[in-house]
Amino acid sequence: MKKSNIILAALITCFSATAQKSEIKSSIENVESKVDSVLSLMTLEEKVGQLVQYNGSWDLTGPASELGSKQKEDNLKRGMVGSMLNVLSVDATTEAQKLVMENSRLKIPLMFGYDVIHGYKTIFPVPLGETASWDLEAMEETARIAALESVAHGVNWTFSPMIDISKDARWGRIMEGSGEDPYLTSLVAIAKIKGYQGDDLADPKTIAATAKHFAGYGFSEAGRDYNTVHVGENELHNTILPPFKAAADAGVATFMNSFNDLDGTPATGSKMLQRDILKQDWNWDGFVVSDWGSITEMVNHGFARDRKHAAEIALKAGSDMDMEGGAYESSLVELVNEGKVDEALINDAVKRVLRVKFKMGLFEDPYRYSNPELAAQLNMEEHRQVARDVAKKSIVLLKNEKNLLPLSSSVKNIAVIGPLADDKNTPIGNWRAQGEANSAVSILEGVKNAVGKNVKVTYAKGADLGVGERSFLKPLEINTTNKSGFKAAVDAARKADLVILALGEDAFQSGEGRSQVNIGLAGVQMELMKEIYAVNKNVVLVLQNGRPLEISWAAENIPAIVVAWQLGTESGNAIADVLFGKYNPSGKLPVSFPRAVGQEPLYYNQKMTGRPTNPTDVTYSAYTDEEKTALYPFGYGLSYTTFKYGDIKLSSNEMTQDGSIQVTVPLTNAGSKAGKEVVQLYLRDLVASTTRPVKELKGFELVELQPGETKEITFTITNDLLEFYNAEKKWTSEPGEFQVMIGGNSMDLKTDSFQLN
Ligand code: NOJ
Repeated sequence: MKKSNIILAALITCFSATAQKSEIKSSIENVESKVDSVLSLMTLEEKVGQLVQYNGSWDLTGPASELGSKQKEDNLKRGMVGSMLNVLSVDATTEAQKLVMENSRLKIPLMFGYDVIHGYKTIFPVPLGETASWDLEAMEETARIAALESVAHGVNWTFSPMIDISKDARWGRIMEGSGEDPYLTSLVAIAKIKGYQGDDLADPKTIAATAKHFAGYGFSEAGRDYNTVHVGENELHNTILPPFKAAADAGVATFMNSFNDLDGTPATGSKMLQRDILKQDWNWDGFVVSDWGSITEMVNHGFARDRKHAAEIALKAGSDMDMEGGAYESSLVELVNEGKVDEALINDAVKRVLRVKFKMGLFEDPYRYSNPELAAQLNMEEHRQVARDVAKKSIVLLKNEKNLLPLSSSVKNIAVIGPLADDKNTPIGNWRAQGEANSAVSILEGVKNAVGKNVKVTYAKGADLGVGERSFLKPLEINTTNKSGFKAAVDAARKADLVILALGEDAFQSGEGRSQVNIGLAGVQMELMKEIYAVNKNVVLVLQNGRPLEISWAAENIPAIVVAWQLGTESGNAIADVLFGKYNPSGKLPVSFPRAVGQEPLYYNQKMTGRPTNPTDVTYSAYTDEEKTALYPFGYGLSYTTFKYGDIKLSSNEMTQDGSIQVTVPLTNAGSKAGKEVVQLYLRDLVASTTRPVKELKGFELVELQPGETKEITFTITNDLLEFYNAEKKWTSEPGEFQVMIGGNSMDLKTDSFQLN
């Protein structure tokens, strides 16, 4: 045995001895010295190998590299690969890990990454939908379950949470994030990371998480995917970066950079983002994986001459691992030998990768996440119950005229109509990991499960939403002509007491590469809705959607509207729970719904402008053909009961930067049903060294009240809630007057004010 192998063998034996959890923890404390020992054994080629990630070809989520699988296998055997993505199953991960462990010189284990975005097999609501629950505990729990199911199939690293703020419903990837608000998204990020990673990354029931996409991707111009992002420092620091800072502070294991050009620099090549802000200012010690091929794509951006130049820029900028791009593997050794890249930078990147692998316990047991027994231990039925629970909490009731909902027991004849009514595929959504196609409970099934024998349920599809194949790689071709099913649907509607009309978007209408210039009800759906409404006014519109939709006509005419996103495996049962009143809806929109697509990007936390609207004047910041406000604003959602807010009380009208004040509001359930309300706190800094938004969410609480019950809800305002990135490029608060607003959505608010001294 060579000297290096003896040292490594000793190191590995020493880790194997630390099987007990407490010992694993203490071994983590020594991670730095272990990382240094391993690094000292590595050749330059082996170091570069750790910065290479290969796709396993099980599930292509981007263009495949030019390397054939034989060549990939050889490189794995030589220890020239740090991680793989899309290798799914205990057998496949074991096989790939064996190639490394049984053949390579240093036997540095692989990590196995995958896009586990809203569940692995049990599918939970798409992230935008799940955020509508505002239930952080539930969101942590679904991440914990996703982790359990992932490790049971060999996957030990998820490329989630996606925490790109997005205000633009045209952008297809808005469904993957938590919407338009940085405060809410930050808290979701923390909950998700905790759920995936637990308290100890070495626990074999946890997986490493990834905060993505760093940064600015959600601001792609005109909502077009991969497009240029023009944001200044103020927006970058105050809106885009806070969730990433929260993720870094929460100990997220990895970051993923992003495809977009950010103010003239592709994010993948941005030293300012990766080295200066993330690694230096935030002192974060994990590693950054590129997005798929994003290093090489800097050539397309016109930012790098060729792949080698792209590798040089990316590495220097702090992009540590190259996802299926081939740039690092083909060029980094040469770049170091030519003196163009300092080996110290490679060392730093490798140490970051090794650190995560040590923390995950991979050196102790490279197969710890490829354990065939774990799958058998999973309680899939329990996971389904959690899926149903979080799905019903994610539903948002937008309109409920004359209390059409919950459905009364006098409704004896229900027509369930629409292209999505019996669709078992759409609720699984995009980025469905191993969620099976057509495996969700459809709305029709959910309704049938819920009603007794003496309610008649008739089904008519009305029309197809699309034509042909639907998949991750192929956008849906929308049906714009075939209305042959209309007659049967209209007949069914005419005969029914009430219609449940299921419209919206197909699973693959939102997600990566799914930007749209129209966000209305696609195809022939509007016509179908109008024909149904013409014969039966008792219509409950149930929308399934991965983005805010333009639904002005429905908002004006249809008496009841429910937003059911893409809710996952138990979708139909959860929807029925809400429609029949088994669950009183409590979801609130994490994103504004526009009146017209021309308002996009639309968001509540906008700036005042020099000319806020004056309805009697033309030359103000408004539209001449539409109101400028949202149709349904951020934070909005109804319940089957009514909540009444009393006046706000402040413990003082003055506060110092090291002090705090309490703001209290009495909340009464003035209706006749028990219900849950998301009480929201907003603040506004009236005058500052940079312009500040008209309001910003700074707190919320889920409150459950019985009919007639009143509770005092108290928020504590501390200096950190008043801080922002100011004109001097500092995070600080500035003395002056602040407005405090509390209410059940971002528009209907009780207001008071205080002075910061
Ligand atoms: C590209 C996407 O932008 C990213 O979010 C995803 O994690 C990778 N592909 C891997 O599938």
